[in-house]
Amino acid sequence: VTGPAFPHRLAVNPIADRLHPYPALLKSIVQADDLRNVLSVTPHLPNYAQTPLASLSDLDGEFGLGAIYYKDESTRFGLGSFKGLGGAYALFRFLERALVAETGAIDLDALLQGKFRTLTAHIPVSCATDGNHGRSVAWGAKLFGCPCYVYLHEHVSEGREQAIAAFGARIVRVNGNYDDSVRQCQADAEQHGRTVISDTSYEGYSEIPRDVMRGYTLLFHELAEQLPDMAGITHVFVQAGVGAFPAAVCGFFWDMYGTKRPKLICVEPVNADCVFQSVVAGQPKAISGEMNTIMAGLACGEVSMLAWDILRNGCDFVVAIDDEAAAQTMRRLAAHRPAITAGESGAAGVAGLWSVCASAGSRETLGLTPLSRVLVFGTEGATDPELYTRIVHGLPSSA
Ligand SMILES: Cc1ncc(COP(=O)(O)O)c(C=O)c1O
Repeated sequence: VTGPAFPHRLAVNPIADRLHPYPALLKSIVQADDLRNVLSVTPHLPNYAQTPLASLSDLDGEFGLGAIYYKDESTRFGLGSFKGLGGAYALFRFLERALVAETGAIDLDALLQGKFRTLTAHIPVSCATDGNHGRSVAWGAKLFGCPCYVYLHEHVSEGREQAIAAFGARIVRVNGNYDDSVRQCQADAEQHGRTVISDTSYEGYSEIPRDVMRGYTLLFHELAEQLPDMAGITHVFVQAGVGAFPAAVCGFFWDMYGTKRPKLICVEPVNADCVFQSVVAGQPKAISGEMNTIMAGLACGEVSMLAWDILRNGCDFVVAIDDEAAAQTMRRLAAHRPAITAGESGAAGVAGLWSVCASAGSRETLGLTPLSRVLVFGTEGATDPELYTRIVHGLPSSA
């Protein structure tokens, strides 16, 4: 690999299970068959379009790999990230359950046309977010006519707040970090009778986050059409915040391909490495404090309970990267032809791949060779355009 060698930490999951088929217990969280239910909803939402799959053919030679496929979520629903697939879908499924007594089986088109507004106007929902999940829930709440409250911790940028508020959601600022905002959101919901539409699950709360994870499986419907040979993918690099996204990816591949599934590598910022620490410890480990990183979407200190159930034995490796790797990757992707817009968290998957490819030891540990066919998710575009411009146009990433 030409160019810089990025410092990183690599953890091997000592209890990764590559000998057994996907356990039935985990199928009840996410499985390939969930796609059928998702397909009856998500493609019918406004502005649905398949997102592109790019082949990073300029990087695969340089990285010494056979192929790198980049699923580019920067245009998803005009929301700018893959999170558009989760929150709005889970909100629909919740409304379906909540309204069944009054309406019978709810019709999505009728809901979108506002036929149930007199009911949905009295169903307030809320969530905590680093930015992207909240945008999805706020968008869904606007589509379906629910009052919406979005909790932002003190480090979420102004630009991300504005994007959420533009959908009419009320913003609640919380002191502390992401995990503090999750707890405040839950406590206020209990007090004010709101339903939390969260992407992370915790003790006593899992039905809705499970639907969020299932919503992400739509990516595989698109990939099945776009990838020349999905079964031939050898490695998947997936950014982890609370771990719901990598767990959904892991569950889907494990269910589809069993012991022949690709190796799953979670990528996290060094300062918010809760999946890394949990994999090393063999049990959930929480990180506290500010978790200072430009990868805002990944600045989570506690693994989602449901995600951990899958990642515990399903994740093969975790790589913790620093901000400079993410910033350089954003610039590198912007220089790709055609140009790829990847936000800080969106670029982290390729940044993790770049970091390990530049280290002979890490490459060997992961079994990356010129025959490897790697899938990476570009999970967000310029979700904070001002920050994106500052980083990509050469100013120091800490500026
Ligand atoms: C752009 C982006 N990528 C990846 C993730 C990680 O997803 P998860 O928190 O489900 O692990 C997030 C989470 O917010 C995100 O915003």
